[in-house]
Amino acid sequence: NSVFQGRSFLAEKDFTPAEIQYLIDFGLHLKALRHNNIPHKYLEGKNIALLFEKSSTRTRAAFTTAAIELGAHPEYLGANDIQLGKKESVEDTAIVLGRMFDGIEFRGFKQADVEGLAKFSGVPVWNGLTDEWHPTQMIADFMTIKENFGHLRGLTLVYAGDGRNNMAHSLLVTGSMLGVNIHIVAPKELHPSAEIIQLAESYAAKSGAKPLVTDDIAVGVKGANIIYTDVWVSMGETNWEERVNLLKPYQVNMAMLKATGTPDDQLIFMHCLPAFHDTNTQYGEDIKEKYGITEMEVTDEVFRSKFARHWDEAENRKHSIKAIMAATLGNLFIPDVPELEK
Ligand code: CP
Ligand code: NVA
Repeated sequence: NSVFQGRSFLAEKDFTPAEIQYLIDFGLHLKALRHNNIPHKYLEGKNIALLFEKSSTRTRAAFTTAAIELGAHPEYLGANDIQLGKKESVEDTAIVLGRMFDGIEFRGFKQADVEGLAKFSGVPVWNGLTDEWHPTQMIADFMTIKENFGHLRGLTLVYAGDGRNNMAHSLLVTGSMLGVNIHIVAPKELHPSAEIIQLAESYAAKSGAKPLVTDDIAVGVKGANIIYTDVWVSMGETNWEERVNLLKPYQVNMAMLKATGTPDDQLIFMHCLPAFHDTNTQYGEDIKEKYGITEMEVTDEVFRSKFARHWDEAENRKHSIKAIMAATLGNLFIPDVPELEK
């Protein structure tokens, strides 16, 4: 049997570190095929359901275009289109979708919901983001890092910002799986839970990664190769004032990049997007009036600088999601995965 066949991707721990590494490399391979116009229709004739309780630009666009380029048919089912969790249970919805679709993407609030879909649908389910994890984003992010540095092991990624959200969790765990030192630099109130830190540490003990959780910016950013941040207020949250006050000192700006002490050609900036780097959004004007700031987690200067890699990262969502769907559902044989890079 093909190693990935029929499996779901609900959180990073569902795959071994070597399997995660395989998906990163497979994503890079599929990117090269796409850029050279070489067809790769591993999902010919399949139907893919795309369930979105929360809004999305990248994840929806990536799954849709990836499915079509793989030869599959994607069907978007938004929060107001289906009964999930409102008029019909997750279990019943999963059973019905599993009878009609070959694979299901789910983006929403509760991790339990994506787990329920996987349990009852009988088809591969891919987590397109929950409050707890953002696993498909990880394949794209580490693809982007590998494109820039040629390898992963031994690099240091600093995540500055909300240490308790999905992105902080996923980066901390995935980096620890792959031998990348993840520094979560955040105020004490927003440090990851002991449970998440423990999971990361158990992977790090095997990979040799050195994860760090600190509120000390100078200590945390030292030696960074990648500076990463995410929004201060995630989807479903509304606590702007509390977050602005707590996280203001942790904004990614040129001073923070300098404080890394890293040579320019060994340093990049990443962001999963969407980013609050100016006031050109619906709530931008509001924030400016209330808190007197026009930039939040990253300054416009850094966002538009030579260090920025977020556009490559966004494109890589498509190639990495292709890799995930093709490996778990595709008509191709993957007998084994190579050992983790040393
Ligand atoms: N990075 C990411 O998941 O973006 P979307 O919310 O637009 O899908
Ligand atoms: N932490 C953010 C990530 C968006 C891709 C959120 O959950 O809204």
